Amino acid sequence: MDNVSFLIEKLYMEGWLRDEEFLEVLIHHGENEIRNLLAEYARKTAHRYYGNKVYTRGLIEFSNYCRNDCYYCGIRRSNSHAQRYRLKKEDILTCCDEGYNLGFRTFVLQSGEDGYYTDELLIEIITDIKRRYPDCAITLSLGEKEKESYQCYYDAGADRYLLRHETSNAQHYRCLHPKELTSEHRKQCLKDLKAIGFQTGCGIMVGSPSQTLKHIVEDLHFMKELQPEMVGIGPFLPHHDTPFHNEPAGSFTLTLTLLSIIRLILPDVLLPATTALGTIDPQGREQGILAGANVVMPNLSPVAVRKKYMLYDDKICTGDEAAECRVCLSNRMKRIGYELVTDRGDSIRKLEEKRICTINIH
Ligand code: 5AD
Ligand code: FES
Repeated sequence: MDNVSFLIEKLYMEGWLRDEEFLEVLIHHGENEIRNLLAEYARKTAHRYYGNKVYTRGLIEFSNYCRNDCYYCGIRRSNSHAQRYRLKKEDILTCCDEGYNLGFRTFVLQSGEDGYYTDELLIEIITDIKRRYPDCAITLSLGEKEKESYQCYYDAGADRYLLRHETSNAQHYRCLHPKELTSEHRKQCLKDLKAIGFQTGCGIMVGSPSQTLKHIVEDLHFMKELQPEMVGIGPFLPHHDTPFHNEPAGSFTLTLTLLSIIRLILPDVLLPATTALGTIDPQGREQGILAGANVVMPNLSPVAVRKKYMLYDDKICTGDEAAECRVCLSNRMKRIGYELVTDRGDSIRKLEEKRICTINIH
């Protein structure tokens, strides 16, 4: 414990550890004292930038068609049991209307990789949302695209892009995806997104099949190098209609440990307590915030399609109206001393960069 406490203090002070030191901390994820100490430093760090504010994003899962066949994912193209759906532009705008009235100032548009939504259609959707809600941010989560496509979404007004890298180790990536998908291409997409100017989010599933703690340390290196504005992590959860249906779920305590470590290596990062974390444990989202996360992403999709966007089994909140989730989350946050706020919740680093740019121009 003493040695690990020393390492945790070092991580807090210096924002980084040697590989074997990270491993030492990760190995102890099951010990409450260790996790509590890490969480304490992680919270202190989050407080320095965000106080007791928790940002919220309204998630709109607008299509579950996907051309990919990732072994872990319930909406993979080979899953013939998935009931497929697509929302029309008007339906998406209705979700935004409802979300805006509930206090959401970021809309996350997420889908499988669905060719039905051409760049022209996506530009139209982004432009319409921005015209109606100029005070809102748009986050896209549409998978891998050409750089030109990313650029035109950015030019249309999209602010952020989420694309989890899933694992930065090429061999491990192979264990999770069919060969048409490569870790190199995924990483290239993330670099393109950063270069264009998106607030960019990467991330992993914790405890995905074949993952080792060494892989996780490699992921920390990747994050440190990429300097993402957002990181999304959650435990791997099996889906009954996928090749990984018999694989064990990822560890809750390892996910919490990792949330704290990520907060300490990227102090101002936007870090959600994810739905998967809330699914693996009834107090998962609260525990995630207490481990250093500062974002929650409730679902704004119409209840009629919620159950169809099943990436993994037993996903929470699939029967609840957006308003119920908002109130529920706000209460949950209040109970642990945090406040769910009505705010775009931009990356502080990005805002600062923009401010400096503006000063230089004038
Ligand atoms: N368990 C946990 N997370 C999953 N995702 C996809 N399938 C699963 C699963 N079975 C995550 C992936 C993806 C994000 C949208 O959801 O990390 O990038
Ligand atoms: Fe959806 Fe609690 S957040 S019901």
